[in-house]
Amino acid sequence: MSCNQEIKKYFVYHGIFLPKMAYSENSLNYFKAFKIQEDDIFITTYPKSGTTWMQEIIPLILSGGDFTPVQTIPNWERVPWVEEKRAAQLIDKLGSPRALASHMPYHLMPSTFFSSKAKIIYVTRNPKDVLVSSFHFHRMASFLDDPGTFEEFAEKFLAGQVFFGKWTDHVKSWRNPEIGDRILYITYEEMIQDLRGAIGRILCFLGRQLSADALDRVTEHCQFKNMKQNTMSNYSLVPKHLMDSSKSHFFRKGNVGDWKNHFSPELEMKFNAAIHEEMKETGINFPWDEK
Ligand code: A3P
Repeated sequence: MSCNQEIKKYFVYHGIFLPKMAYSENSLNYFKAFKIQEDDIFITTYPKSGTTWMQEIIPLILSGGDFTPVQTIPNWERVPWVEEKRAAQLIDKLGSPRALASHMPYHLMPSTFFSSKAKIIYVTRNPKDVLVSSFHFHRMASFLDDPGTFEEFAEKFLAGQVFFGKWTDHVKSWRNPEIGDRILYITYEEMIQDLRGAIGRILCFLGRQLSADALDRVTEHCQFKNMKQNTMSNYSLVPKHLMDSSKSHFFRKGNVGDWKNHFSPELEMKFNAAIHEEMKETGINFPWDEK
């Protein structure tokens, strides 16, 4: 992919690449001026870490286990991204409490966010699996740069020359101690391992309850194989010229460790070293970190 094509598809916002198809100066002005409500619930993620999964779980919790919202409203409408072009129109339609999504790093959030009581659920995923998921997403999404080979794409990922910048910067930004207990950190991996338990943690964090039976039904509905069939969540409503599922499905594999099918031993060493170097001062230990 030549530089010209890159420039055509992305613009740079505070050093972060954003696809022009979904973001504009207007949408970012709306985002910056966005008025947070005290009972807002934010799903914040680096892309490909489990955003869509949370866009299913949170509405089901808020509806008390009623499936109507997730069966009738597309995920981008029921939990809109605040920084996207369509946000203003979609957020106006939301009831209270609002469930909202953002891929922005913490320091770029709207100014009213920092002093608010809005709750945040931050999903982190092994960056190697994020890279793999993102690589295949770039193959199918025409509004993103062609990824090139996996090795070429890995270089760009480590350099932060992909949408929403460096994984390490994003993760570190959301570990800011000033957020206090307003944030719940949850990993994609723990959701895979024990989805019912993970939903239980989210219920506690949000001060909500579901009966044991409703929790079972919500858990079952949110399994990969079932969400993959939900036309309101699987992006099949998006036209093929924007997301081409003949190249890769949005609901691709939904597992842990697919990176092992993509990384050479050399790339694994290089990738581990680069991530370790940028994370070593943070004291954060993830379940996937090498022992
Ligand atoms: P893969 O490409 O590895 O399959 P996001 O929504 O942040 O863009 O993340 C997309 C990734 O989350 C994709 O990963 C997708 O398959 C996975 N995903 C979405 N819902 C899931 C679920 N219910 N269970 C497991 N993985 C899920």
